[in-house]
Amino acid sequence: MKKNIASARIDIESSALLKELNDSLPFDKELFREDITGSLAHAKMLTKQGIISQDDWKLIEQGLNELLEEIGQGSVELNGGDEDIHMAIERLLTAKIGDAAKRVHTARSRNDQVATDFRLYVLHNNQEIARLLVELIKSFLSIASKNRDTLLPGMTHLQHAQPINFAYHMLAYASMFKRDFERFISSYKRNNISPLGCAALAGTPHPIDREQTTAELGFKEPSLNCLDTVSDRDFALEILFNISTMMMHISRLSEELILWSTSEFKFVTLSDKHATGSSIMPQKKNPDIPELLRGKTGRVNGNLVSLLTVMKGLPLAYNKDTQEDKEGVFDSVKTAKLSLMVLKEMLDEMKVNKENMENACKKGHLSATDLADYMVKNLNMPFRDAYHLVGNIVNEAEKMNKDISELTFEELHAIDPRFKEDAIEVLNIENSMNARKSYGGTSKESTQKQIEILNSWLESL
Ligand code: ARG
Repeated sequence: MKKNIASARIDIESSALLKELNDSLPFDKELFREDITGSLAHAKMLTKQGIISQDDWKLIEQGLNELLEEIGQGSVELNGGDEDIHMAIERLLTAKIGDAAKRVHTARSRNDQVATDFRLYVLHNNQEIARLLVELIKSFLSIASKNRDTLLPGMTHLQHAQPINFAYHMLAYASMFKRDFERFISSYKRNNISPLGCAALAGTPHPIDREQTTAELGFKEPSLNCLDTVSDRDFALEILFNISTMMMHISRLSEELILWSTSEFKFVTLSDKHATGSSIMPQKKNPDIPELLRGKTGRVNGNLVSLLTVMKGLPLAYNKDTQEDKEGVFDSVKTAKLSLMVLKEMLDEMKVNKENMENACKKGHLSATDLADYMVKNLNMPFRDAYHLVGNIVNEAEKMNKDISELTFEELHAIDPRFKEDAIEVLNIENSMNARKSYGGTSKESTQKQIEILNSWLESL
């Protein structure tokens, strides 16, 4: 009977159903590079420690490097019925170099092997996503620097609130994505520890050197406790959470872009390159990209909740449940990277309809707070009294079918004779926006300051 190379005491062929349930090769072949890199580091260390001979090491090194190339090119197929990528590589290496290949698994288990491979994949992608976030932030800054003068109704409750400028709105997203960037980097730093050499759960009696494999693989330090390390998937949960939070930000922006592309708003026009039509309505131009980005947020959230649920009842140490960690992470990582690239391309080519944004500022009494502030400053009125008085003025303006910013001095004076001519100035939308000079505020000056701070942050990276 044929024996599975990873089942020493099982003599009969596995059930086909067990294989279907158990085999992870169809998806963990994604980790072939990390697996080969990890084996090279491990075998090199075993050689230095005198556990593997120089001759065997030469064969192993050459064989693994060849496999790396062959699998990369697709000239070697990874579907030989192996249980997982680790067994597939071991089988292929054995076929290539013979007995020396069987020494590579000394002082190693698939438990520390998979933890190493998967961690390398996740760490690399924390950095890749962070890099794409930087590119996205640059797009927001570029749109911002062209729109410091573009007035836009700032909203709360999706109702007109106070005038802002479009640059300021873009910088809000730049700030969000900067936090995301920092989350990916801090996860990278926290999880940059090597599981290799932990073996099955308890370490190994072989005289290994974990510091060497740590350095070889570019990790910061070896993990402290092997029992924890082989069952720890916090690094995977962190990238899933980071992606979910980032996609939630992308989804919020998408929602705004969808809204802004409607005939009611027309604040932006997405490039035809980034819109689709309808199979029946000839006039349609649909914002499918932001809709899909909004939709994909649901999918990455699902991946996060899946893994949290997989992990919640696991006793120490490794359990096969953990094999369920990979597909969701691969999926979320791919979704995150594609989303960031598509979003950047779409933003770079989006047309900002300045005039429509400014026209929208003439509705909703955006400068009402400014009038109350005027009364506080010039008439020494308590803010709450001024607030109620302006409420009445808004009602009067509504009766005249006017926005508060369109009231003339005569009309204002007729409502309350304490108003002087300069009250009209504070009602002006642009003045209102520019009056908010406090740190982090929307004035052109503060917006410029934010652009400068974000630019020097980018330079410091
Ligand atoms: N394929 C497994 C996984 O992805 C790794 C192998 C560990 N298996 C084992 N029987 N100890 O988690």
